[in-house]
Amino acid sequence: MSLFTSVKVINSGKAILLYRKYGTPLRYHSTWLRDNALDSKTRDKNNGQRLITISDIPVNNYIESALLDKKGKNITLKFLPDKKKVKFSSKWLEANAYDKKSNNSKIWINPDLKVWSNKTIKNIPIINYKTAKSNKKLLLRWLKSLHCFGFAKISGCEKKSGTVTKIAKIFGYVRETNYGKWFDVRSKINAVNLAFTNLGLQAHTDNPYRDPVPTIQILHCLKNSTDGGDSKVVDGFNAAIKLKKGNKKYFNLLSKYCSRFEFKGKKNVHLKSRFPMIGLTPDNELISIHFNNRSVAPIVDVPYKDMLNYYKAYRKFSDIINDPEMAINFKLKPGDCFIVDNTRVLHARTAYLAKGSRWLQGCYADKDGLLSTISTLSKK
Ligand code: OGA
Ligand code: ZN
Repeated sequence: MSLFTSVKVINSGKAILLYRKYGTPLRYHSTWLRDNALDSKTRDKNNGQRLITISDIPVNNYIESALLDKKGKNITLKFLPDKKKVKFSSKWLEANAYDKKSNNSKIWINPDLKVWSNKTIKNIPIINYKTAKSNKKLLLRWLKSLHCFGFAKISGCEKKSGTVTKIAKIFGYVRETNYGKWFDVRSKINAVNLAFTNLGLQAHTDNPYRDPVPTIQILHCLKNSTDGGDSKVVDGFNAAIKLKKGNKKYFNLLSKYCSRFEFKGKKNVHLKSRFPMIGLTPDNELISIHFNNRSVAPIVDVPYKDMLNYYKAYRKFSDIINDPEMAINFKLKPGDCFIVDNTRVLHARTAYLAKGSRWLQGCYADKDGLLSTISTLSKK
């Protein structure tokens, strides 16, 4: 365990400097420390939520003294002018350190994620439905893989209508939309959505016209005896990284300009959104892909001078997504189900013939529930 060896008040009390047995020294500002105090007047003992507002902290707050205990395990700070004493454990301070070199210009992804292609993925994360319901340890492992790869399968699900919502409830909550709590994916006459026909669908993320977009999609197979109707998934983050490697200008065009997406349903449904096809946070974390040929609306946020190159970038991105080396291909069997991180992994199906029957059911859920389940199961 890394411990602190000494502490110093610096910058006239506006910060402290902590020396560690292992690793470089760490600095913390007095306002940051005061805001994050863990005492019962600052945070509710029951729910851990903060009781103070930023305005309650004196503007001119500073640290008068900092004391490290003999074992290097705890630090007691005295703040002025409010004469507040606050204790922090070195473990907590280290876990919440922010004195790092900033590298805002580089594109990065969450270190818990692994990008993949058909060449690099070894095993598709898969779990049996009954096991997922009964074995918390295996469930946790599978959920972590789902998060890590943005894709996973379940086998042995009931072949009953509505089962897809039970699958969502294993880790989270169903997101109800205009398609209902769940929806049938099968060929219909006058289909409201091309997904409900027998046409092939290019790899896409679902519902980019919805803001917020559903962050998880689940597709459950009830019947699949047709010729065709095969499934495929593609890691959109890998595609974005490939685009950037091949042509940084193209990557910038798709990440700096918004596309538009739109869906007009039959009744009172008209959904519109504005997202870049490749989403970055202000500090350049790659966080989302919105890609769906069926629902791109006229793109009007790219200036004339860049539109031609924008379309070249869009085409290149599409070519990378269509590249067979990028894709995992499979055919769903009745009772199979697959789940994707809909902000990252694209899914597709090949066209199918009318002979035989194909019936899938889909539903949406969200990643907050997934991540919360992973976090709470990990603590048990
Ligand atoms: C969908 C979809 C794929 C399939 O419903 O969103 O992409 O295999 N369906 O039918
Ligand atoms: Zn889809």
